[in-house]
Amino acid sequence: MQNQKNTSQKPQSGSEKSSSGKKASMKSSQLMQLFEDGLKDIYWAENALLKAIPKMIKNATSEDLNQALASHLDETKEQIARLEQVFGLINVKAEGKKCDAMDGLIKEGIEIMESSEEGSMRDAGIISAAQKIEHYEIATYGTLRQFAETMNLTEVEKLLATTLQEEKEADLKLSEVAMDAINVDAAEETA
Ligand SMILES: [Fe+2]
Repeated sequence: MQNQKNTSQKPQSGSEKSSSGKKASMKSSQLMQLFEDGLKDIYWAENALLKAIPKMIKNATSEDLNQALASHLDETKEQIARLEQVFGLINVKAEGKKCDAMDGLIKEGIEIMESSEEGSMRDAGIISAAQKIEHYEIATYGTLRQFAETMNLTEVEKLLATTLQEEKEADLKLSEVAMDAINVDAAEETA
């Protein structure tokens, strides 16, 4: 809907060039703000995962699942270091801002572990929780990588793309573990 405010903000003839330049720089500073907010959100989320993944490992029975989670725990540490590099490159202090989405996903995972018997069923629950977490991270890093590309932050974009790839591979690995053993065992337990 076109309103009067919008109409009045249209550039006047003669000042069109500088006005559109101003608009572009406003847009890019807003994009930078979104980018910084997103970085702080995922920085909080990754640090929360540093505490949550060991709980998942403790609760998992399958050796494959244990290994997949343990290697993702190591990757998570590297991803945190990578985020710190990104903060450094854009001259912003590395700090987290509570991510309610990740907080909820982790709480859901803990509930699943507490409400299921140890063994294949709990393993299947852990995988489902871990994959929801991965999908959230893939969405977040995908967006941040795109923002970095739009702002021509080449180094930053590379770092985020590396993490995005790791998250995708972790998700695939979890799918493999689920298909290989756990879902079959879980089905047998309920039979
Ligand atoms: Fe991650």
